[in-house]
Formats: sequence, structure tokens, C-alpha cells
Amino acid sequence: MCGIVGYVGLQEVAPFLLQGLKKLEYRGYDSAGICELNGKLHVHKTQGRIADLECLLNQKVISGSVGIGHTRWATHGAPSDDNAHPHYDCTGNIAVVHNGIIENYQDLKTLLIAEGHVFRSETDTEVISHLIEKYYQGNLLEAIGLAIKDLRGSYAIAVLAQDSPDELVVVRQDSPLVIGLGMGENYLASDIPAILDYTRNVYILEDGEMARMTRDTVEVFNKELVPIDKAVFQVEWDPIQAEKEGFADFMLKEIHEQPKAVRDTLAGRIDQDGNLTISHDIPVSLVKGITKVQFIACGTAYHASLYGKCLLEDLLELPVETELASEYRYKRVKADANTLLIVISQSGETADTLGALRLAKAKGARVLAITNVVGSTLAREADAVMFTHAGPEIAVASTKAYTTQLACLYLIAAYLQEQLLGRVDPSSLIALTKIPDQIASVLAMHEERLRDYAQKLVKATDAFFLGRGLDYASAMEGQLKLKEISYIHGEALAGGELKHGTLALVMPDVPVIALVTQSLLKEKMVSNLKEVKARGGDILLLALADSGDFSDVGDEILLLPSTLDFLAPLLTVIPMQVLAYYAAKARNCDVDKPRNLAKSVTVE
Ligand code: F6R
Repeated sequence: MCGIVGYVGLQEVAPFLLQGLKKLEYRGYDSAGICELNGKLHVHKTQGRIADLECLLNQKVISGSVGIGHTRWATHGAPSDDNAHPHYDCTGNIAVVHNGIIENYQDLKTLLIAEGHVFRSETDTEVISHLIEKYYQGNLLEAIGLAIKDLRGSYAIAVLAQDSPDELVVVRQDSPLVIGLGMGENYLASDIPAILDYTRNVYILEDGEMARMTRDTVEVFNKELVPIDKAVFQVEWDPIQAEKEGFADFMLKEIHEQPKAVRDTLAGRIDQDGNLTISHDIPVSLVKGITKVQFIACGTAYHASLYGKCLLEDLLELPVETELASEYRYKRVKADANTLLIVISQSGETADTLGALRLAKAKGARVLAITNVVGSTLAREADAVMFTHAGPEIAVASTKAYTTQLACLYLIAAYLQEQLLGRVDPSSLIALTKIPDQIASVLAMHEERLRDYAQKLVKATDAFFLGRGLDYASAMEGQLKLKEISYIHGEALAGGELKHGTLALVMPDVPVIALVTQSLLKEKMVSNLKEVKARGGDILLLALADSGDFSDVGDEILLLPSTLDFLAPLLTVIPMQVLAYYAAKARNCDVDKPRNLAKSVTVE
């Protein structure tokens, strides 16, 4: 989730590259850099925002009229000058910017080092420049065509070669790239907003397509280097719509990004046979001999920890506790050197979470972090980190951060089972790899219906979210989404708890969102729902396909693709996010910036 720009023409590159990067800063903002070709390749890069890059460039003479630029959201290697893009090969003849994740970079790096290549960064991207160097025999397009055959993962790549001074060569696979067509100049960007001020005529590259751009020509090829006749696409979005990729709000865009986000979380962590490959994230020594697992987190991340607790309790023969970070801080800390403390935080900067982490660490706990931000305080203070790779989340309400946290937790649960109990279930990991497509199909199948159902919520003062077991953990997240963006009071309840008090509030037409995905608890849950039905509550029921007939309890029934019970929370949360979104829109709320809330809570 970074941003790429590029230019070939007659103008000086810096103004376009800088302006384009500013437009893409929402895609990544921990470091930035450009490379200009002016007889020689010159890379200028720095940790920090685009403004820091601008200061750096102000001190230099930039006169090249071919160039590439990048704004980074770190995935491999902390934000630093060295890890910022572009990346050179050994000789300084090749410079590369890249968006995406190279899953097999570690193997490639080992191989390239054995062949004598010298690396200067910790990034996965740098293997690309060395691979191109390896294959380069004077034809950049051909070298890139060979290099990508060795790559596994997602990429949008732009490359300059010093001894091919008039061209910019690009390729895409599972990460967007567009080429803007000008007169005597051509533009490149990972996202349309960067080029809208210059042209509205673009080529949108498809997966596996490559292009060679000069100032007067753009040739597009498939991976076998066979030329492709590309149709010009006319962009009609205004700049704001373009930033949101045509979605009305960042939250809706981020809801729709979840298939890709979860795919990126899993990338390189499960092989084709369903084996885990995460010991580079979590060293075996971190988990061997643990006698207890504790989770700490706040808000949505805390709800993810509830999922983690249910999962680990079921799969491991160990006590598992979860605690709100703000509470943990003021309790007697019961952690020791055999405690595995799993700390979850999207931002990695939440003050309560960090405070709690430090207390547990002082008692000797082993700390495993799940976070979205490479280089965050949490990532730096933990003993090991599993990055979610969700990309920047702009909307205040967490969506893709949550689903990717659940995916990480599932991987961790499988890893602990493997390491502590010697058990592995590749089929359950294969089921996890199907989740991204299943999320996409939930959105495709149900978004319209949920938008209609949201109208029922508009006048409601309360909505109840019911579930049992893992469904209760998901219900907690569902109610928070509704509350924080629509300002409708939501409350999550374990199905069996309703009759102990809250049932008094269930009256005709009170909305009840019921989650019924856990096989062992299904009958019990249906009985709980009959209590609601008898009082006239309006039930929107979420269940897995082929799991039973719920027509006697559900007023509206949404069937989700069938999966393992353990994985159902990755699907049930999607309709609840969509419902909250459309309820908030129907009430004219500012969905991306709900009142009184901030994205990162860095005070206690
Ligand atoms: C809700 C939400 C918050 C955060 C919470 C913790 O949608 O985003 O509840 O989950 O403030 O933030 P992080 O995960 O950054 O520690």
C-alpha cells in the first residue's frame, strides 16, 4: 500500500513527482524518494513525509526529465532512509520502486547474496533491482520479463536503467498501475489521483501486463513480451472521488479493500500445501515453554483479542486471558517469563496498550505484537511482530485492520498448535486462504440488501447484537461499528444472557442482529432468538450457507459462504460493517470522521 509515480518527457521531473506523491500520501507516508535520470541515475530519499523529501530536494539541483518516485508504507524493514525507495542494484545502473509484497524475497535474497550481490536495505523490493541486474543484457524490458518469472507475490514495479536513458519500464501483478498519456510526455502512477491534473487519458494496466514508456510512445506487452493493443480509458472522476477510488467514503473503500488486505496478510505465510511459514515472524524460542497466553488491546483490537481468546482456548491446552489495556494497567499484573503476551494494535501507538505492554514486559513476559504499522512504538518494543499488512487505514472506524488482525490470530493459533502440541491441520489453513474471495462474495451478494435493511435502523434508538461463543466476540465488534459511526446505541449480548435483564428492552420492531454460525451452539441460539421473536423484535440473521433453516426466527436472513466455524468471524463482520456504514449514511453522519473520535489515541 505505497504510492508510485513516474514521468518521461521534456520537463524537469521534480515538480510532477512531488505533486503526484503528495496526492498519494494517503497510501503511505513513512518515507519517500525519487530517482531522476540525468545522464546518471540520482536517487534522493528520506524517512518521513513528502514534505521532508521536498526539503531534501530543495537543497539539490534536479534537472532530469525522466524519473520515478515512491511514498512508502513499510512492510519489510522499518521506515528509514536506507529502506525508502527507489532501490539500486549493485552497480547503480538500475533503480526500482515497488508496491506490494514479494513473498519469496528471503529465498531470492539468499540466492542473490550467494551469487555475490550486495544488499543495502532490509526491504523485499531490493531483490527486484538485483534480479533485474542479473538478467540485464542491454534490454530492460527483457530483463524485467525474466526477473518477474522468479517473483511470487504482488507487485507494481517501475524501473529505470542508466544506460537506457529514454525509457521507463513498468509491470503489474495484483497491485494497480495506470499510465497517463500526454503530448510529448507520459505519466505513471499507482493510483489515478496522482495524474488527474495532467491528463484524463489513461491506460489501466491489467495483471501480468508490462509497458515501455518513452516521451512519445507507450507500448504495452503481456508477460511473454507479446504486444497488446490497449484501449484508452477516459477518467471522469473528480480528484476527491479519485482518492477514494470512486467510493463515497474512505470507510466504504476500506470495507471493499478487505479481500486484498487479508490476502496480503496471508501472503508468504501459508504455502500451497497448507503449511505455515511464519517462523520468520515468530521465532520458535518465543513460544516454547509458555504456560499462559494473555492478550491486551483497546476497542476494535480488543474485540479481535476476544476472537483470539476463544480460538486459543479451544485449540490449546493453556489458560488464555484477555484484558482491556486500560484496565490491565491498574491491576496486579499476573505475567511472568513463561507468559506469552499478545498485544494487538492497528496503529501500534495507543497509549494504554503501550502502558500495559511495558508493565507485562517488566515482569518478564514474552511480547508478540500484531500491528499494522512497521516502525511503530509497539513494533519496536515487542520481542516479535506479526504485521497485518492491511495498508493505511484512513477512516477512523477500523474495518480492514480488524479482519487482518483476525487472520493473524488464526495463523498464530495454528502456529502455537504446531509448536506446542505437534499438531497441524493444513486443511484449516487452506480454508483460511479462501477467505479473501469469500469476503468479496459477501460484499457482492449482500451489500444492496444491507443498504435497504439499514433504513430500518435509521429511527431506532437501540440495536442488539446477539451471538454465542465466537459469534459473541463478533457481535461486540458489530455493535461498536454501529455506535461509533451512526450514533445509534448498539449492545452486544451473549445469546443466553438476554433473558437475564436486557430482554426487557426488546419490543416490537427493535432491531436484533443475530449471528448463528457456531454449529455446537446453533440450537441454543435459535431458542434465544425465539425469545426475541415472541416479543416482536425484528431479526436480521447471519448464518453460514447450508447450516440449517432459520426461516422461523429470521425476519431477514443473510447466508454467508460456508467455511469452518473458527473462520466465520472473518465473514460475519462484513455485513455488520456494511450495515453500520449505510445506517450512518442514512442519518447523514460523517462516516470517516465520527464526532469525538480520533484515529490514534496516544493519550491515556
Ligand atoms: C474502532 C477503533 C478503535 C481502535 C482503538 C485501538 O473502530 O478503531 O476502537 O481499535 O482505538 O486502536 P489501535 O488498534 O490503533 O491500538
